[in-house]
Amino acid sequence: MSSTQCTDLGRALCIITGASRGFGRTIAREMSGLVKPGSALVLTARSGDDLRSLEAELAESEAGRAGLVVECVVADLGQMEGLGSVVRASKEAFSEDIDHVILVNNAASLGDVSRDAKSFTDMAEVDSYLSLNVSSSLCLTASILQAFPQLPGLRRSVINITSLCALQPFRSWVLYCTGKAAREMMFRVLAEEEPDLRVLSYSPGPLDTDMQKVARSRTADPSIRKSFSDMFAQGQLLTCEASCAKLMKLLLEDSYTSGAHVDVYDL
Ligand SMILES: NC(=O)c1ccc[n+]([C@@H]2O[C@H](COP(=O)([O-])OP(=O)(O)OC[C@H]3O[C@@H](n4cnc5c(N)ncnc54)[C@H](OP(=O)(O)O)[C@@H]3O)[C@@H](O)[C@H]2O)c1
Repeated sequence: MSSTQCTDLGRALCIITGASRGFGRTIAREMSGLVKPGSALVLTARSGDDLRSLEAELAESEAGRAGLVVECVVADLGQMEGLGSVVRASKEAFSEDIDHVILVNNAASLGDVSRDAKSFTDMAEVDSYLSLNVSSSLCLTASILQAFPQLPGLRRSVINITSLCALQPFRSWVLYCTGKAAREMMFRVLAEEEPDLRVLSYSPGPLDTDMQKVARSRTADPSIRKSFSDMFAQGQLLTCEASCAKLMKLLLEDSYTSGAHVDVYDL
């Protein structure tokens, strides 16, 4: 592997979950500017209007004018049918010229942070959280790897958007911490099993998004809630653009250890 930075991500098929807002929307914008002509983006989330406004914006961009294909898939990733439609759209968007398949597992939810762990007695509630945040990520990744098997000349990269919560417990955040830890281990196993695959768990830092608003307004634990409110008040949240620029640099350099957890503050 070379440590010199490429200037593009190749003629890529980029599948980005949670592209309607927040970090996923920024990833879609930034990736669209780093792929070669002949590339395609498959953008998915539940909010169709937000996806379509992004599609329109990208169509007007330099990449759009150069022929970038953008497919929006309105889907609930917590449901099997949702996963199926993302896989179908990805197969349709693929062409023989594509030399890099990039899957960004970005979609996630915070879960109910207004309660502590001992209140989670309802298995259906926990299962529903894990369906979106863990199961869908494994099943989508597995389906995409099957749809686009290893071929000479085809690079395959799988990105997991992770968090400090995968490594560290946060009071009131039992679902989120559990989901992020499980999801990250899943990608570590994948990296061990598939040496040709490039697997990255990127921790983007505290971002100024809807998820942060929920974190600072609804977290039950007062000290955790205060630390999020303080970060916001003191201007310590990162913009999605600043964090995404570091992710793109990692992907262009392509020198990370496959399966590694890389934090924005390490870069
Ligand atoms: N914000 C932070 O401070 C922070 C810190 C560390 C890590 N992260 C991670 O960064 C990633 C992006 O977070 P964010 O802050 O951008 O969150 P966000 O603003 O809440 O956006 C979440 C995205 O996921 C999609 N999504 C949620 N539920 C879905 C479902 N059932 N099916 C399909 N899509 C669904 C949402 O789209 P729809 O609602 O349209 O479906 C949205 O596009 C997440 O993995 C998060 O855990 C965030």
